[in-house]
Amino acid sequence: MAKAIGVDIGGTGIKAGIVDLTHGTMASDRVRVPTPEGAAPEDVLTAVKTVLKTLDVHESTLPLGVAFPAIVKRGKTLSAANVSKTWIDFEAEQFFREGLDRNIVFVNDADAAGVAEARHGAARDVMGLTLMTTLGTGIGSAFLHDGVLIPNSELGHLNFGTYASVETWAATSAREREGLTWAEWAERLQAFYSHIEFLFSPDLFVVGGGVSKNASDFLPLLDLKTPIVPAIHRNNSGIIGAASLAGD
Ligand code: BGC
Repeated sequence: MAKAIGVDIGGTGIKAGIVDLTHGTMASDRVRVPTPEGAAPEDVLTAVKTVLKTLDVHESTLPLGVAFPAIVKRGKTLSAANVSKTWIDFEAEQFFREGLDRNIVFVNDADAAGVAEARHGAARDVMGLTLMTTLGTGIGSAFLHDGVLIPNSELGHLNFGTYASVETWAATSAREREGLTWAEWAERLQAFYSHIEFLFSPDLFVVGGGVSKNASDFLPLLDLKTPIVPAIHRNNSGIIGAASLAGD
C-alpha cells in the first residue's frame, strides 16, 4: 500500500496522520496538538516535530505533505490571518525542510482539503467548478475545475459589510465566540454562499472543517441553487490532501 504522511497546521490545532494514498483514507490514528499561542514559526515547527514523533514517523522516509493556513507561493507564505505576522513573506517551505531535515511538500490548507475531496471525496468525478470551503478558525477556499486545483483563492477574505474579511463574521470561530445558534449562524453562511455563488457560478460547494460533522444542523437551512455537501473526509481532508500531494 502506497502511503504518505500529512500534517495540517490550523489556527487552533495541528493534526497529522499516515494516509493510504490508494484509497485516500487515514492509515493511522489522527494525532493532534493545539497550535502554540501566537503561532510563531519556531513554536509551530516544534509542535510539528511533536506530532511526527507521536505518530512515530519522525525518521520515516515516507513522503511528507504540510498544509498551512496562508497563501503559499513557491514555498513562501505571503499572508498570516490567524498565525504570527512573521509568516508574511517567509520562506516557510525551506524553514520546514531545514527544521525537519527532510524533503516536504508545502501547500495551503484549504487547497489540500480540496484536493482530497476531489480525488477521494465529495467532489470526486465532478466536472466543472467545485468550490471547497473550510469553516474553522478562518474560512479557507479551494477552486477545483474538472478536478484540477487552481491554488490560493482566499474567499474568507472577501470584504463583507463593515468587515475587512468575511471570515471574522462567518467562520466557526465567530459562531463560537458569539454563541450563535445554528439558525443564526446559517443566516451568515447564507449571505456568504449566496455571494460566492453569484460571483463564480460553481457546480458544487463542499463544506469542510471540524464543523462539517454537524452539517445536518446547518446545511439544510441554506437556500442555494448549487448543491452543497459536507466533505466526506470531514476534518481529515487537509491531512489526506497534503499527503496525496506529497505522494505525487
Ligand atoms: C487564510 C487561508 C486559510 C483559511 C483556513 C484564512 O484566514 O487566509 O489561507 O486557508 O484561513 O485556514
